[in-house]
Amino acid sequence: MTAPYRLLGISGSLRAGAFSTAIVQALAEAAAPDAVFDYADIGALPHFNQDLYVEPFPPAVARLRDQIAAADGLVIVSSEYNHGIPGVLKNALDWASRPHNGSPLQGKSVLIATSSPASTGGVRAQYQIRETLVSALARPVSTPEIVVGHVHTKMVDGRFDDAATIAFARAALATMFAEIAQQRMVQ
Ligand SMILES: Cc1cc2nc3c(=O)[nH]c(=O)nc-3n(C[C@H](O)[C@H](O)[C@H](O)COP(=O)(O)O)c2cc1C
Repeated sequence: MTAPYRLLGISGSLRAGAFSTAIVQALAEAAAPDAVFDYADIGALPHFNQDLYVEPFPPAVARLRDQIAAADGLVIVSSEYNHGIPGVLKNALDWASRPHNGSPLQGKSVLIATSSPASTGGVRAQYQIRETLVSALARPVSTPEIVVGHVHTKMVDGRFDDAATIAFARAALATMFAEIAQQRMVQ
């Protein structure tokens, strides 16, 4: 039996009770036992400042970069702020994106999901996240987008609870696992 895939869950929201964080958790449960999740603490990161991009990195930066390097893939779940990527998430991706050739993000499979109480489900942020990842030479998983509209109606006692979304996400996770397995074979 192959070892479970190691995935790093990143929530684009620092809010206690964030829908994004609840969806990360739901995806971790949906991915078991094929994958085990670690979780990033992007709220601990300083604002990106290129002057701080020197070794030794600030501890929270070093930890995030190590977590990404150790993972087979990332699962990013985010809301949308003012039609775009939340600043805290962009900050985290910027910290992980250097050096441009040889960053922890380079070649990493990334599954993206967005949500919103609105029907648009954060899809505009999703495309900005994807573009940032492409810039960092990561590999956004190519599946039908996981876009969760009316997310507040899909929560039960603080947990994301929507069978149709979970089934849809499971298919996307399977695509991601196949991509990671393919990469393992060529390495
Ligand atoms: C500063 C700010 C900007 C927002 N802009 C958008 C937006 O452009 N599109 C949208 O669908 N929702 C927008 N919202 C609503 C968020 O989708 C909603 O607050 C969501 O619950 C945040 O995600 P979270 O539950 O993961 O924290 C905005 C919320 C805030 C606080």
